[in-house]
Order: sequence, then C-alpha cells, then structure tokens
Amino acid sequence: MSEANQLINLQDKVAIVTGAGRGVGRGISEVFAGAGANIVVAEINPEAAKETVDIVTGLGRRAIPVQTDVTKEESVNAMLKATLDAFGKLDILVNNVGGVIGKPRMIPIVEMALNHWDDVISLNLTSQFLCCKACIKHWIERKSKGAIVNIASLAAMVPYETSVAYGAAKAGVINLTATLGAVYGKQDIRVNCIAPGHVKTPITDDLYRGREEVRAAQDRIIPLSRYGNPDDIGKVAAFLASDASGYVTGQTLLVSGGMTYFLTKLP
Ligand SMILES: NC(=O)c1ccc[n+]([C@@H]2O[C@H](COP(=O)([O-])OP(=O)(O)OC[C@H]3O[C@@H](n4cnc5c(N)ncnc54)[C@H](O)[C@@H]3O)[C@@H](O)[C@H]2O)c1
Repeated sequence: MSEANQLINLQDKVAIVTGAGRGVGRGISEVFAGAGANIVVAEINPEAAKETVDIVTGLGRRAIPVQTDVTKEESVNAMLKATLDAFGKLDILVNNVGGVIGKPRMIPIVEMALNHWDDVISLNLTSQFLCCKACIKHWIERKSKGAIVNIASLAAMVPYETSVAYGAAKAGVINLTATLGAVYGKQDIRVNCIAPGHVKTPITDDLYRGREEVRAAQDRIIPLSRYGNPDDIGKVAAFLASDASGYVTGQTLLVSGGMTYFLTKLP
C-alpha cells in the first residue's frame, strides 16, 4: 500500500451516510467501505438501502440499513441510536440527502408556492442542521472526535436557474459548515463540505433526457471534459472524513471537474 493510500484510511471507522440508497450516497458508501469503514445506510427507501447494504457487505465491511427521514428530528435521533446500538460508536457523518423537488424542476420565483420553498429548504438544509445537531451533541457528551462531510452543490455558489430554493438552501449548507467548523474545532470535531458540479446519477440522467445536445455542451464547458461519477465525490469525502485532512475544517471544496458555472440551455 502506498503512503497516500495509508493516509486515506478509514479502517474500522463507523460512518453514517444519509441518502446512501443510490447515486452519490451509494458512491460515497462504496469508497468508504473500500477504505475500511463500516456503513450506516440512513435512507428513506428500504429497498434502495438494502441494495447498498449488499454492496458494502460484498466488499467485506459491515453495513446496516436504518430507515430514516432526515427532515424529522425524532427520526434523526433514532438513526443515531440505531448506529450506537449496532456499532457502539460513531466516527463520521456524511450529510448527503438533498435535491431539487418535484416537476417541473424549473419554477420561476413568481410562481413558487411557499410550501415548495419550505420543502426544498427542509430537505437540503434543515436535514443537515438536524443531523449535525444530533451527532455533535453525541460527540461532545462522549468527549470523542468526529468528522462531518456535508454535501452542497455548485448551485450554492453561482446563479442556478433550475431552482432558486435549491441554490439558496445549498448556500446555507456552506455557511453551516463554516460556522460549525469554527465553533467545534476545539472539541476535535471537524466539519467540511463538498460542492459537486454535475454527477452522473439517476437525477442528472432524468434532467437531461431528451436534451442530449445540452448535456454534450455541458461536457464541453467542463475543463476535465466529463461529468463526475459518484466515486469522484466519494474519494474526496473519504479524504475529508479521514485523518489525512486532520488540519482542515469549515471548508467547502468544489468537485466539478473544474466547472464553475452551469449551462442549462444551449448558448
Ligand atoms: N447528482 C448531481 O449531479 C448532484 C450535483 C450537485 C449536488 N448534488 C447533491 O448530492 C446529493 C446526492 O444527490 P443524488 O443525485 O445522488 O440524489 P438522489 O436523489 O439520486 O439520491 C438521494 C437519496 O436520498 C434518499 N432520500 C430522499 N429523501 C430522504 C429523506 N428525507 N431521508 C432520507 N433519505 C432520503 C433517496 O431515497 C435517495 O436514495 C444531494 O445533496 C444533491 O443535492 C448532486
């Protein structure tokens, strides 16, 4: 094993990955398991959770499904309890759940209902508040160190016409990360964030179905010339969750193949 591989080592760490049933969350779970972690698949969809559990156990690590709705505080607290009952400890939280809700995805602000705005904020920002709150409280009580990786989006940093609520919620995630990183550094609790660009998942397949020319134009504006894969996010998450980033907290890393703006229509 090279020195670099040893640095990104999650051997016997216990990681909660929210929304790990598919897409980016599943990719993160696979990379973490490959680095030696055991995974709590905190997922609202039990069938999807089972598939990820099977993948992780196939890699030789332990995994449990915990049916969780990360927008509900009692469910988040039950997720933490199930983790401690199964593994006796928690080392890492990955706040991955999020997304644009409903169809059409592009709702102009003048037509956006307040309950839609509230739902998007709840799924993308309140969920991360609840999970951070529960896990940080636990680590402080136990006097143990912890690492959190929040998932935001490039949409937090630039205009994103697809959903004004989504971009606003993800911008909140970046500030939540910076503030919690600053406040809890003294307790050895590190909080960092990844802002992905486009990642090849069922969501982006759906978004660009029938608009292949826009998808191809996207590839042309990405300096590394391709969409990301879930494991591209997983590898950076593993770095931020591991001791290799032990002197990093409160930071957001853009993982987008170098892309710094969105193209949702042909120029
Ligand atoms: N896919 C991309 O291109 C992209 C780009 C930028 C950021 N992101 C972010 O990455 C994260 C993952 O995105 P994805 O594309 O893999 O999403 P996805 O929709 O494919 O997967 C999300 C998972 O979360 C689960 N989930 C949904 N609501 C839940 C809830 N309330 N409680 C628990 N689980 C719930 C779903 O069942 C699903 O398995 C999101 O935060 C998203 O905003 C994705």
